[in-house]
Amino acid sequence: MQELKRALEQEQPRINAALARHAAEPPAGSQAVARLVLASGGKRLRPFLTLLTGRILGCRDERLYTLGAAVELLHAATLLHDDILDRAETRRGRPAAHLLFAPATVILAGDAMLAKALLMVSAFGDPRLTGCISEAVMRTVDGEIAEFDILRNPDISHQDYLAVITGKTAWMLRASCELGAVLSGADASLIAAAADFGLELGIAFQIVDDALDFSSGTGKPRGGDVREGKVTPPLLSYIASLAPDEAKAFRERFRQGPLAEAEAEAVCAAVCKQRLDLRAKELAASHLASAALFLKRFPPSEERALMEQILEYILTRSH
Ligand code: FPP
Ligand code: MG
Repeated sequence: MQELKRALEQEQPRINAALARHAAEPPAGSQAVARLVLASGGKRLRPFLTLLTGRILGCRDERLYTLGAAVELLHAATLLHDDILDRAETRRGRPAAHLLFAPATVILAGDAMLAKALLMVSAFGDPRLTGCISEAVMRTVDGEIAEFDILRNPDISHQDYLAVITGKTAWMLRASCELGAVLSGADASLIAAAADFGLELGIAFQIVDDALDFSSGTGKPRGGDVREGKVTPPLLSYIASLAPDEAKAFRERFRQGPLAEAEAEAVCAAVCKQRLDLRAKELAASHLASAALFLKRFPPSEERALMEQILEYILTRSH
């Protein structure tokens, strides 16, 4: 895992330079918000995936950085919108952008960043790249809508949950990998393997993220998802662990509206005590195993070994 950390730290300055360059281009109105959200940290996992996928397939084209920067810009735009939709007050430990700028400015800056990202990719003149990023935007939005449709519904199925996270998170990670593969000039079957790899990795990433929401030590208050009415695997396992009458009462309470701090805390404590997060981790591990199989279709390389470490990191990260 040390090599992964080193390789990521080595790439971050160049990724950040590409991002800063594009964020400083017109339109002027969105620049302050873009600068704020881009300066607030983030590991730059998505651009890193673009670089690694391209290089695994033999691409040495410097324009991999542009594609990576486009995905990161898009990701940053989704976070701006997401924090408004979730009424979140903080992002990465700092005040959310909509508390520092007018919410209208933040929404519109997000729109401009989205358009900028699409413009950056369309400048390559390859409809496969433009199609890939455009579809990822569409699927991300669709996942968010699906999440709102099932908010405060404790009776959703596992499939409903998977559909939400595949859309809202996994498609953007899928695009991160597919863009690199397309630029490498690989044949269609390898491009498809790169896309499938990214999708499975993305699903696992969000499952782990949702499991971590129940534990302390992540840098944000635990139980945020439960309070917001988001139904994730640990919560479904928690409901399943209750006696029938308790489960019925909890379902009714959950549907009614936001849980109080103490109610959410009690759910988190029960999830941790019964280690219900481990069930979610097993689920994530099965998606990571599928991702690993797609990865095996590529020739062994230093970059492929780093990708294997990313799969391990996703499962073992604690924040
Ligand atoms: C974080 O989820 C949010 C996403 C992964 C996607 C958000 C996407 C949109 C709002 C779609 C529209 C935006 C654009 C520009 C296309 P989370 O709320 O579970 O995670 P969090 O704890 O990081 O907030
Ligand atoms: Mg959110």
